[in-house]
Amino acid sequence: MKVLGISGSLRRDSHNAALLRAAALQLPPGVELELWEGLKSVPPYDADDDGGDRDWSLVSLDAAIRDADAVLFSTPEYNHSVPGQLKNALDWVSRPLKDSPLRNKPTAVVGASTGLFGAVWAQAELRKVLGAIGARVVDRELPVGLADDAFADDGGLTDDEQRLILADLVTELLAEAEPSRIAA
Ligand code: FNR
Repeated sequence: MKVLGISGSLRRDSHNAALLRAAALQLPPGVELELWEGLKSVPPYDADDDGGDRDWSLVSLDAAIRDADAVLFSTPEYNHSVPGQLKNALDWVSRPLKDSPLRNKPTAVVGASTGLFGAVWAQAELRKVLGAIGARVVDRELPVGLADDAFADDGGLTDDEQRLILADLVTELLAEAEPSRIAA
């Protein structure tokens, strides 16, 4: 099975990219996580461009989502919400809604922030956006606060409870993905 990982941060040393890599360490055998790296190249959404040729970044995003059995998002929180560039990419992916690669796609959301609260509001907003697009969204969250100190040298999460929550969340995501894989 293939899980696509999408970080909402463009930063080279992003804690959210690190959280996706930590999730990859906890995947069961036979499941791989591939990180999508094109977010910075996504152009601003413009409805006048609907139906026209899309930028390569959007073509790659569409194909990566379609090719994946499930998508795991890790989002930072910017001013208590989802970073604009991630929301912008999802606005593109939602058009046209009936053909969106996220429709019925099993998805889950985690998040890391340098403050105490671990991007909980951004995670809730992202789950809402994904639901609006028609994705199947796992109703769980993983807030990783104080992210500067959250990762061990091997890339895994230092906190035992966070590791357990991440394992449970990924298990639920994969369970959600299994029937769609059988149907495909
Ligand atoms: C932040 N940050 C932040 N953190 C938080 O917990 N709640 C918030 O509302 C915000 N708002 C916010 C706005 C902007 C514009 C920036 C740049 C940052 C801090 C944020 O959690 C921190 O920069 C993380 O490290 C971002 O995630 P990455 O880039 O490490 O993945």
